[in-house]
This record gives sequence, C-alpha cells and structure tokens, in this order.
Amino acid sequence: MNQTTTRISGEEIARQKDFCAQIKAMNAPLPARPLAFVDTYGCQQNEADSERIRGYLTEMGYGFTQDEAAADVIVINTCAVREHAEQRVLGNVGALTHTKRKNPNQIICLCGCMMQEPHVAEKIRQSFRHVDLVFGPHVLWRFPELLWRIQTRRGRIFETPDEPGSIAEGLPVRREGTVKAWVSIMYGCNNFCSYCIVPYVRGRERSRRPEDILSEVRELARAGYKDITLLGQNVNSYGKDLPEDVDFAWLLREVNAVPGDFLIRFMTSHPKDASERLFDAMAACEKVAPHLHLPFQAGNDRVLRAMNRGYTREHYLGLIRALRARIPDIVLTSDIIVGFPGETTEEFEDTLKVLKEVRFDALFTFIYSPREGTPAARLPDPLSREEKAANFQRLVDLQNAISAEKQAAYVGKTLRCLVDVVSEDPRHNLNARTAGGRLVHFSGDPALLGSYVRLKITGASTWALFGEPAD
Ligand code: SAH
Ligand code: SF4
Ligand code: F3S
Repeated sequence: MNQTTTRISGEEIARQKDFCAQIKAMNAPLPARPLAFVDTYGCQQNEADSERIRGYLTEMGYGFTQDEAAADVIVINTCAVREHAEQRVLGNVGALTHTKRKNPNQIICLCGCMMQEPHVAEKIRQSFRHVDLVFGPHVLWRFPELLWRIQTRRGRIFETPDEPGSIAEGLPVRREGTVKAWVSIMYGCNNFCSYCIVPYVRGRERSRRPEDILSEVRELARAGYKDITLLGQNVNSYGKDLPEDVDFAWLLREVNAVPGDFLIRFMTSHPKDASERLFDAMAACEKVAPHLHLPFQAGNDRVLRAMNRGYTREHYLGLIRALRARIPDIVLTSDIIVGFPGETTEEFEDTLKVLKEVRFDALFTFIYSPREGTPAARLPDPLSREEKAANFQRLVDLQNAISAEKQAAYVGKTLRCLVDVVSEDPRHNLNARTAGGRLVHFSGDPALLGSYVRLKITGASTWALFGEPAD
C-alpha cells in the first residue's frame, strides 16, 4: 500500500461554496439571470467533471444556455487524448473571439486535460488572448475561487499546477439526466502506456474511499437513477492506494448490495489487472450489467510490449475464455489502435485474428495519434498514412461484418430493456438499452423514460436494434 493521496478538507470545499455565494450576490442586481455555456470533450470522466462545474455554477446562480453568444460565462472542458480532439477544441475556442467582441464582459474559461499540457497552455497564453481563465483537472475543485478572482480583478489566470492530484469530496453536482449517472471511483492513471497522455495530465492513481462511493450510490438509487456507471481509467486497480484491504471485485459486490432496482456498469478495465475474482463478482451480482469493455489495443505481442501494456495476446484471450465460461452471453467491447509506430501490416493482421477469435459486439477504433511528451512519439514511424488508413479500413470492415451478425442474432428475442432517451426521431421516439448495453429504438409513450420495458426485437443494423413492446 502506498497512501500518498492528498484529500481536500471539508473546510476547503466550504470556502469554495462561500465564493459561490459571493458571486451569486454580485450577480443579483443584474436585470436577468446570468447564463453559462458548458461544453465537454473527451471521456466520461470529463462528463463527470463537467457535472461538477455545472453544480458550482448552479450554486453561483447561473442558468444554462446552448448558445455561446448568449452566455455570460463559457467553460470548455477539453480532452488531449488524440490530435483530432485538440484541433476541434482550438477551432471552437478561436471562433469565440466573435462572441467576445459582441459581449466584452463575457468570461471564457478553458479547463480539462489539454490545459495540463504545458505547450497548450503556452499557446493559449500567446495566441488566444480572449481566454480569461485556464485551469487544469487538479484544481477543478477551486473553480469558484478562480472565477471570483477573474470577476473582481484585472488580468488573466493560468492555474495548471503539475501535481500527482488530490481527491475532493462534497462538490455540488448537477447531473445531465434522471436515468443514468456517473460515479467516479478513482482518478488518474499509473500505467503509462507508451502512446497515452492521460497519466501526464490526470496525475497518479488515487481511489475514493468506499464509504464515499457507497453513499453516493445509495443517494442515486434513492433518487431513482437506474443505470449507474462506475468510472476510472483502470477500475481494476481500485483500492491499491487505500489503507483498507479492498479491491474492485469487493466494491462491485458492495455496490450490488445497495437497495434499489438499478444496473451497474463500469469503465475502463485494464486486461493486465482483470482477474477471475472480478469475473466471479460480475457473475454473482445480479445488478452488474453483462457487459465488459476490455481494451486490447493490438493483437501482436511485440507491439503490446512496445505499448507497455503489460499483457500478451494469449493472456487476453485467456481472460475472455474465463469470463465466457462464467457469463456465456456477456457483451464484449474493446478499444484498438491502428498504426502504432513501427507496427507492420503483418503485425496489424494479428489484431484482425483477435477480432475473429473473440467476435466483439462492438469496437472503438483509433488511428494512432502522436502525443507530445510520450515515449511512443519519439519512435520511428515508417508506415505511410495511406497504409495505416488501408489497415484501419480492413479492421472496420471486419468488425462491421461481425457486429452485423451478432446484432442479427437478437432478432426474435424478447429482452428487458431500460428506456433511457426520448428522441425527436419520428420513426421511433424512444431509445432503450439491453442489460448488455445494446441500443434499441422503439416507439412508445415518452412517460416510459426511466422504466424497464420488455421489448421484442424485430430488426437489427450494425449499430442498433429495433423493437416493439412485448406485452
Ligand atoms: N484508460 C483506458 C483508456 C482511456 S483512453 C484504458 O486503458 O483502457 C481511450 C482509448 O483511446 C484508449 O483505449 C486507446 O485505444 C485510445 N488512445 C489513447 N491514446 C491514444 C493515442 N495516442 N492515439 C490513438 N488512440 C489513443
Ligand atoms: Fe492511457 Fe494506458 Fe492509462 Fe488507459 S491505462 S489511461 S491507455 S496510460
Ligand atoms: Fe481525454 Fe482526459 Fe478523458 S485526455 S479521454 S478527457 S482523461
């Protein structure tokens, strides 16, 4: 055990809430309620962080708008994982010069993983002078204080301390919906996969205390949430830094014991730490969704080693066999990177072999994107862009064929599904999820949102199922 995590005290958070109250009082004389625009890029962890930013803004008295031009405060929560995400952020932030010109009092804030990259913060400082406040993930809990300083003093603020990270409990949360909820169980990552920026921007692995997680889940279950996702970059290393002798398999069983009719999901599991203990817990817990997202990234052992992933293809396939022996109809999804520096087309074909052997239900596929400061970005990368694109297409084509077959096998079955979205689509106004997380479109009363329905599956495409109420 290595217990070095800093825990932010309750008094510190109370102090931040005082800043919220002061901002609210300052805004009170305004003729209309001030508005905030919050935009989020990246993974569920960032979504969860944005719910905290919205929670703070709500305590400050802000309403919310989807229109940048109408906003008094803009917060853009950014992602650094691939270049494409970064380009989109920079493009959109650049466009905000126009809204700021029309409304010079508008406050523009950038936060999230990109801001924790020194070269990005420097670029914002030099070339995006309309941005008022830049802060990294480690100081999100101090957002009220930072916003107060912007509102009461001249000048810009850049607050991106490079630290291992802390845990702050008791921040206000404004959740996006009433059916699905995120619960972070840990933050940061210690794995340093050689291509990945996350450990540099999110700090070291640190676990929330079990009682804090369980009381949040209890509250969500009482409030009627039906679909609770436990979040961490590698949930399988939960508890390693805690004084208690606990692990993720134990936590799953504890969450499962919380009273209520809800489903438990979790993201992400790392294959090097996934264990039979975890699979036993999944099989034993009736609330845990029969779905595992287990990224394997590449099918070739040399490439896996160069990625610093800590497992071999055979180990990965063994995990899948052990899991399927316990839960035969488990839904399996994964992440794959094509074109890691030095990966030959022959090595890439080992990835295709894994697809054929495992037959995943769905995949998230990415072309390798070099990240400044990571070891992989310094490796020679001889394969041309065209060859990588051709390999990527082969991967997508193979998976689409497998997905289509797996989806077609649902037709004729009747499944208990959770209605989680009311949409504007005139053909089918409701979306539901099977327990395994597959999307089902159907038509019905919007009042069904948040309830379980039995749906007969009548059709399937690569990405979605189509159904109708069974009774
Ligand atoms: N912690 C999670 C992944 C978080 S990032 C895990 O280890 O499973 C989500 C996915 O983005 C990764 O699984 C990987 O497939 C992809 N990714 C990360 N860095 C990347 C990069 N530099 N280029 C392309 N894809 C990348
Ligand atoms: Fe990145 Fe690897 Fe950590 Fe996932 S486990 S966040 S891929 S370093
Ligand atoms: Fe992106 Fe940060 Fe998540 S880099 S993927 S938002 S942890």
